[in-house]
Amino acid sequence: MTMLNQEKPMPGRPNARRTPRCCGVFARRVSVLSVLALTMASGLAEAQVALRLDRGVQRFDHSAEARENALPSISFIEPERRERGEAVTEGGWAVRPEFSTDDDGRYVARIPLQAGTSLYGTGEVPGQLLRNGRVTETWNTDAYAYNNNSLSLYQSHPYVLAVRADGTAFGVIADTTYRCRIETRDDAIVFAAEGRAFPLIVIDGATPQEVTSKLAELTGYMPMPPKWAIGYHQCRYSYYPESVVRELAEGFRKRNIPCDVIWMDIDYMDGFRTFTFSDEHFPDPKGLNDWLLSKGFHNVWMINPGVKDEEGYFVRDQLVEGDHAVKRADGSTFRGEVWPGPCLFPDFTRRETREWWATLYQDFIAQNVTGVWNDMNEPAIFNVESKTMPEDNVHRADEALGGEGNHQRYHNIYGMQMVSASRDGIQAAAPDRRVFVLSRANFLGGHRYAATWSGDNVADWDHLEWSVSMTLNLGLSGQPFNGPDIGGFAGNGTAEMFRRWMAVGAMMPFARGHTGKGNIDKEPWSFGAEVEATSRRALERRYVMLPYFYTLFREAATTGLPVMRPVFFADPADPALRSEDDAFLLGSGVLVVPFMTPEADRVFALPKGDWRRFDFAHKIDGDSEDEYLPEMYLKAGSILPTGPVKQYVGERPLDELTLIVALDNNGRASGTLYEDDGDGHAYREGGFRLTEFRASLVGDIVTVTSRVAEGDWAPAERRVHVRIIHEDGRVTTGTERSNRPIRIELRD
Ligand code: NOJ
Repeated sequence: MTMLNQEKPMPGRPNARRTPRCCGVFARRVSVLSVLALTMASGLAEAQVALRLDRGVQRFDHSAEARENALPSISFIEPERRERGEAVTEGGWAVRPEFSTDDDGRYVARIPLQAGTSLYGTGEVPGQLLRNGRVTETWNTDAYAYNNNSLSLYQSHPYVLAVRADGTAFGVIADTTYRCRIETRDDAIVFAAEGRAFPLIVIDGATPQEVTSKLAELTGYMPMPPKWAIGYHQCRYSYYPESVVRELAEGFRKRNIPCDVIWMDIDYMDGFRTFTFSDEHFPDPKGLNDWLLSKGFHNVWMINPGVKDEEGYFVRDQLVEGDHAVKRADGSTFRGEVWPGPCLFPDFTRRETREWWATLYQDFIAQNVTGVWNDMNEPAIFNVESKTMPEDNVHRADEALGGEGNHQRYHNIYGMQMVSASRDGIQAAAPDRRVFVLSRANFLGGHRYAATWSGDNVADWDHLEWSVSMTLNLGLSGQPFNGPDIGGFAGNGTAEMFRRWMAVGAMMPFARGHTGKGNIDKEPWSFGAEVEATSRRALERRYVMLPYFYTLFREAATTGLPVMRPVFFADPADPALRSEDDAFLLGSGVLVVPFMTPEADRVFALPKGDWRRFDFAHKIDGDSEDEYLPEMYLKAGSILPTGPVKQYVGERPLDELTLIVALDNNGRASGTLYEDDGDGHAYREGGFRLTEFRASLVGDIVTVTSRVAEGDWAPAERRVHVRIIHEDGRVTTGTERSNRPIRIELRD
């Protein structure tokens, strides 16, 4: 029987090189005196300026006056929801924030913690999963080759998830777009924000899962992506000219390596002018896209916010004519340098500007562009120390966002407002399709508009490990659709590293290989036959697991629970799991144990209980012998729906469904499968099917039945195979035509 006990060494496997348990230096420390003084004078009274917004959701403000003057919420999907609630003066709150100001004039909210509380979230952050002892600063930053001490990366999520020793949890949002320093200490969470006094939202929950779902209820759910976007993506900076793109696509098909999407980075443009194509390198983008589609590839093309300041260039002329640019403090137009040289920047905080930007996608999408990548939208500006625009630049923002304000206030939502406009424009240009946008910058709640990736990581072992912890923390911060640059963006790395990265990256929600200009090739076949074989198997696994991945995306889109979840979700009260980030869960029933270091012999903290090791050897050649692939475990009581190996999502329907079953002690197991057209919006009106599977053992007979739980979408006729994974690793199989109960005798 494969029982994974805590701290059980996994023989013959690489030893985890743990990144040190951090380390942040609390510079610009909140003045303890000022906190104390305020707490004694009025702190508790002020903390009681509270509204009960919903069951388990409270809003606290620095003062009654602060509540009156608070800026609108950008994170809440219904900002007015933050303003309604029952006023409570004595709440008996489990969490009692203390408010003050610090020596730098920042507004401070301190949330004292019980001993043994573990902290997570804070969005896109480098380093390990557990955030106790770290400092984060919300300030969207072009953080090329970031490291463990980088305080700010590309996105801002002023949110912390706290899990108490007993496994109960709460989440806290500092609802401000201003730069906010977040100290996640053992004894307190401390938010210190510039600008105005901010509301603090506390979400109580019996479990971290409940808090995470509630966060999505407040900040909105991720829209269902098109199914092709859950396949493997291949990118580099840049594949050009178009003959290179064709060669790349053929390279995948001729080697039978699954891939759904080819990406066009900036070199496809005419002199880096956004919304243009180079005549020389991409003379017929529609022709190329059609050719790719005919081979089963979707395409994603980059669009950047910086608009080359050149008279006669249509985007720039429209921008000037419509007065859409961000202004300097003196009212003149702001210019900053990016790829094409001096640029103007659309003021995406204005509805008129977003609407104009959206129209630009009409002609672009008409080239049969299927997905868009919004990059550099922190916004990144070259050749200035701040790497962005001056903080006193002026945004003529909508009243709904807070009205006219400076860049200090709107910096962190510049990218979010850009992708909101992009999403609208793409949807209007192709109303029958689902939108796929990838954004580098974003803000808490921005998962409503775009998926993301963890920016310009480095091809080294630390970044390979952080692929897991970063994806997990972003998921816990409300962004389920994310993943790293597989293989590393900055630098070359080694064949060994790439092999391990591909093996684990293929199991992440967003799976894209990418690398920087000037680096060696990093396609799945670039490192020789052995690495190619592991890459193929890793990606075949992803496609075999596609029915499950898609079901998890549906779950994320309806409950807010991330696709990829931390191991501690399996048992939130178990202290041994709190810092485990060398393994992860997909959904709640599948445990993935990758090998992300070159060393042997490592120790994991894995959940107690009965987790059964399984593989895909019945479908994938060499799967069980490939030491580079993650070990996979299925929780007893679960049914995992899997499909055939495919070269791309749309290659064939789910005509062969294989249910991998692990019965629990009572001889029972259950699982679900979500299906729909894979694109379009019919699923919103019932055009989907949620099937529930149940297995039960009576005597020697296991019977597997299915039931349509929701939806009226009809799948194609199919055969259903069942593989029962026994405690001792043996497998018993059975097959039936769909909808009939499957009876399997367990006698030898
Ligand atoms: C920066 C992005 O982070 C990277 O992924 C991209 O390749 C380059 N910009 C070039 O567009």
